[in-house]
Amino acid sequence: MTLKPIFDAIEKSAHRIRDAIANEDLCYSEQCNATGDMQLKLDIQSDLIIAEEFSKIAAVKAIASEEKEEEEILHPNGRYMIAYDPLDGSSLIDVDLSVGSIFGIYDGEFQARSMLAAVYVVYGPRLEMVTAYKGGVRHFIFRHGRFMEQNTIELGEKGKLNAPGGTQQYWPKHHKKLVDSLFAEGYRLRYSGGMVPDLHQILLKGGGLFSYPGTDDKPNGKLRKLFEVFPFAFVYETAGGVAIDDKGGRLMELPCEDPHETTPCFFGSRYEISKVKDAYGVS
Ligand code: F6P
Repeated sequence: MTLKPIFDAIEKSAHRIRDAIANEDLCYSEQCNATGDMQLKLDIQSDLIIAEEFSKIAAVKAIASEEKEEEEILHPNGRYMIAYDPLDGSSLIDVDLSVGSIFGIYDGEFQARSMLAAVYVVYGPRLEMVTAYKGGVRHFIFRHGRFMEQNTIELGEKGKLNAPGGTQQYWPKHHKKLVDSLFAEGYRLRYSGGMVPDLHQILLKGGGLFSYPGTDDKPNGKLRKLFEVFPFAFVYETAGGVAIDDKGGRLMELPCEDPHETTPCFFGSRYEISKVKDAYGVS
């Protein structure tokens, strides 16, 4: 069975969400999501758009969304399970920075080992989409009414960008040392606070490090395994990069016991990840 109908549904959702971002009211709803973040009306609307598009595909068994407490069964006889963050970084919309949607497509269970493909969409000055599937990372830009394929994305051995997440005040000492040592080697700071554009930038500019450590205030980090971490780990590994946690293990080998579980995470090219392992004493 092919994933084409799922990719098509993601494309359709991307257009509809792009349109909603451009035209809809930004205001906060009365609700918080399962992780306690205030939901914007646009978060909820994007969630509904995606759920509606996936509900039309009989092969999609279940969906789990960052905006929903529990997973939802769409077609009990379907095969695929899709976890998504409908509008990651949505609090950046009011300052007109880029945001994104993130999707992980699984075979029968929401575990990293069963991931078949990952896709993300970037809503920036342009509409872009990246798919990781069957060993290749493909980059598409929406132009003249359709997504046009660009060059395949491959990470180099070493990059130039450093994107350190979390509140510095709460970083462990060894983490600060790592971040400082990369700057001392000439790495440049690139951090918008949106996971999608920040990781997209590192991928397209040939490499670097994106880190979100465990901190005093958030010992398991902030980023959610199912909705943010696994899909990007899959993309980075498929592009020839490395994605690990603070114990030095592959993020793609971590179990997921709760849909909203978080983990410290590090995504990068091989050189920067070897520096993470040295700094954390896990090499
Ligand atoms: O999880 C939402 C998110 O906005 C991510 O897109 C981003 O990487 C992260 O939070 C930024 O968090 P912080 O502001 O703590 O660095």
